[in-house]
Amino acid sequence: MGKLISVINNKGGTGKTTTVLNLGAALKKMKYKVLLIDLDSQCNLTNSLHLTNIKNHVGELLLEKCAMENCIHQAEGMDVIPSSPNLLDFEYMINNEPGREFLLREVLNKTNSYDFVLMDCPPSMGTLSINSLVAANQYIVPMQAENFAFIGLDRILQTAEKVQKRMNTELALAGILFIKYQPRTKFGQAVLTNITENNLLKNKLFNAYIRQDIMLMEATAFGQSIFEYAPKSRGAFDYFTFAKELVANYEKN
Ligand SMILES: Nc1ncnc2c1ncn2[C@@H]1O[C@H](COP(=O)(O)OP(=O)(O)O)[C@@H](O)[C@H]1O
Ligand SMILES: [Mg+2]
Repeated sequence: MGKLISVINNKGGTGKTTTVLNLGAALKKMKYKVLLIDLDSQCNLTNSLHLTNIKNHVGELLLEKCAMENCIHQAEGMDVIPSSPNLLDFEYMINNEPGREFLLREVLNKTNSYDFVLMDCPPSMGTLSINSLVAANQYIVPMQAENFAFIGLDRILQTAEKVQKRMNTELALAGILFIKYQPRTKFGQAVLTNITENNLLKNKLFNAYIRQDIMLMEATAFGQSIFEYAPKSRGAFDYFTFAKELVANYEKN
């Protein structure tokens, strides 16, 4: 089985979707076989890959209304299981299923075709985010590099710990990824000082970080990964550096 990674943060706008898309594209560039799964009814990942008006989506997959092979679509050389605005209705039904936290794991257990499966979570700790933690072997928490960004982080870590204890002993934190980090500015330095004094974050940050780069916003808006849209940008460099660190960490363990 490949590496199953949940990209999770219960706050919105922390860079989850941008990370799933561009980390996936970086891993694909490194010749890995990648599957992206959109678990957010806001469908940002799905829309950014132009997979609109899709019938077979992740909600149907989880409720066994659709076979996995029929839910898989292609974009930028990656396989993608899209979401749908209807997912909210499906979540209601999923909540009434026995073993509701295990539905995604059950589906992913049946496939062995991928080196990396990246799961894009909604901005909440509801059933779909828990499904992704139960299915994952690692999770990444993207976080905006700003003062107090870590407020709420303890809750994410505690929830993951409970999932690990009760449902998925394999689950581990891959790391916290700084997004929109500006290391050279006075503010960036202040944030770093603040962070290094915070026990919650110590030794958990990836060395790699993603700088502020408008190209990342533009790429998503134009429906492309940063490697297609602006391969020489800071964003492309940062996501590629991050992908290399992630792969190297796997090779170490
Ligand atoms: N490093 C970055 N530099 C500039 N803008 C970014 C960066 N990362 C993400 N963004 C933008 O920030 C917004 C929120 O990011 P997104 O990935 O959608 O967050 P989430 O999925 O956690 O809600 C989007 O408009 C995205 O284009
Ligand atoms: Mg998102």
